[in-house]
Amino acid sequence: MEIIRAKSDMQRKSFNYIRANKTIGFVPTMGFFHEGHLALMEQAKRDNDLVITSIFVNPLQFGPNEDYERYPRNEENDIALAEKAGVDIVFIPDAKDMYPTKMLISMAIEERINVLCGRTRSGHFEGVLTVLSKLFHLTQPSKAYFGMKDAQQIAVVDALIKDLDFPVDLIALPTIRENDGLAKSSRNVNLDENEREEAVFLYKALQYGRELVVDGEKNPAIIVKEVMDIIDKQTNGTIDYVELLSYPALQPVSLVDQQVILATAVKFKQARLIDNLIFDKNGSLVKRIE
Ligand code: PAF
Repeated sequence: MEIIRAKSDMQRKSFNYIRANKTIGFVPTMGFFHEGHLALMEQAKRDNDLVITSIFVNPLQFGPNEDYERYPRNEENDIALAEKAGVDIVFIPDAKDMYPTKMLISMAIEERINVLCGRTRSGHFEGVLTVLSKLFHLTQPSKAYFGMKDAQQIAVVDALIKDLDFPVDLIALPTIRENDGLAKSSRNVNLDENEREEAVFLYKALQYGRELVVDGEKNPAIIVKEVMDIIDKQTNGTIDYVELLSYPALQPVSLVDQQVILATAVKFKQARLIDNLIFDKNGSLVKRIE
């Protein structure tokens, strides 16, 4: 496994692979790997000749009061885990190389943004779109892999790829969970013991909401209220949102009569956690998006 830090080296290498007719699977990450990341890398390995993963905590996608400094990092361990998962290249650029000068071009997105995390994380998805555009140019992937925990990110990246004709297939794989159901996240290390116990209620509440749909409930307002009540009663976290929207368009729905996302974000003392379920009008889970 090779470690590349300079973006010029990365781009030269990926163009060489393309010229040699190799397919590249790309797993963009901010590091501090857990099983969710490793599952993406392993799938990329099965689907492609080569796997590149990037580790870059992208300053552009963090707001001034967010956890950029506190975001967990462990490069050495990440490198060892990537190697075990069969990754061929770990690309670890630094912010000065990625953004050597003030960016004169900025990305904007018209829809899929003023809901869920986009409502409160102003500039976040624009930062994600910018860094992914750069990373796609640098790594030349045929397929890029994302976890479904970041479902709004997937909807936004889907628009990026389609609108700007990136020759990349987006593959979104199921959220990997702890045994009790908590979605694996690099930020889970910032939960204290009590919060860790409470955090499972995000998933439990979403599951309950989905079961209401399975049992015939179609009214989003009722489902959202039930989910909020559970999170409110069972945790000391502050609910940022519970929303039920069409997916991937992320538009409000008056009835659950199509594929939807039921999603939540909850702020604990040192960690803001997100989770979601995507399901059809009968409540059947969507497990993978391509
Ligand atoms: O999901 C993430 O870890 C980040 O948003 C991504 C896609 C690596 C872009 O910085």
